Amino acid sequence: MNQTLAINMAMTLDGKVARPDGKWYGMSSKDDKIQMDVYRSESDALIVGKNSIINDDPVIKIRYVENAINPRPIILIRRGSLPRDKKIFEESDHIPLVICCKSNKKEVMKELENLADIHALDSDDIDPKKVLGILSRQGYERILLEGGPKLNYSFLKQGLVNRIHITLTPFIIGQRDLPSIADGELSMPDFETSNWSLMNSKSVGNEIFLTYEIH
Ligand SMILES: NC(=O)c1ccc[n+]([C@@H]2O[C@H](COP(=O)([O-])OP(=O)(O)OC[C@H]3O[C@@H](n4cnc5c(N)ncnc54)[C@H](OP(=O)(O)O)[C@@H]3O)[C@@H](O)[C@H]2O)c1
Repeated sequence: MNQTLAINMAMTLDGKVARPDGKWYGMSSKDDKIQMDVYRSESDALIVGKNSIINDDPVIKIRYVENAINPRPIILIRRGSLPRDKKIFEESDHIPLVICCKSNKKEVMKELENLADIHALDSDDIDPKKVLGILSRQGYERILLEGGPKLNYSFLKQGLVNRIHITLTPFIIGQRDLPSIADGELSMPDFETSNWSLMNSKSVGNEIFLTYEIH
């Protein structure tokens, strides 16, 4: 199967992807939301980070592309669980797939059993390669990863990301410790030699939409 994994993130002019309060509300325009829906409409599975769900409670249903088929929401929970009252459980066309570990399986089942399909791994960590394997076996080929930065990092670190969509938004936050699109402890081992190629760029209003690919 020819699986592709694309990251989609918006960042400020100084490369931040979260506000000082850890959230992202108000930092991208309706044009960005429209573009995000285009990327979603071209995907069949949508991975959303646990902290992003807790902090931002994103609307994941496509609103701005007519007759689009919504991608299936995929949630990775390594520790603990998630509150039930999040939009991803309430407003999706598809029942979300939650991938968790053996150590938190009971907790996840107790909290989310009626709201999601639950796949517990036989390990205490969630290996991104295994996630893509599970999705591949279920027939999902075009995967979109909408962050956050910790989840992006774990997929990038293993060289699993083929494409990155970035929206540049017209703000500068400045605070030192805020994350960029990839937030991890160590640098990518081959960051100087892996060249991402710019495949597309367009400006709409005050934002620039960029697509990079790695081959
Ligand atoms: N600017 C944008 O476009 C954009 C987009 C999305 C999010 N954001 C911002 O990013 C913030 C959250 O980012 P974040 O980096 O803290 O969190 P995140 O990437 O949304 O979620 C990370 C959490 O997912 C769980 N997880 C499960 N499997 C994992 C794996 N293999 N690798 C890494 N994490 C795994 C971990 O929690 P457990 O270990 O507890 O399970 C981890 O702490 C949001 O509040 C939002 O504002 C911005």
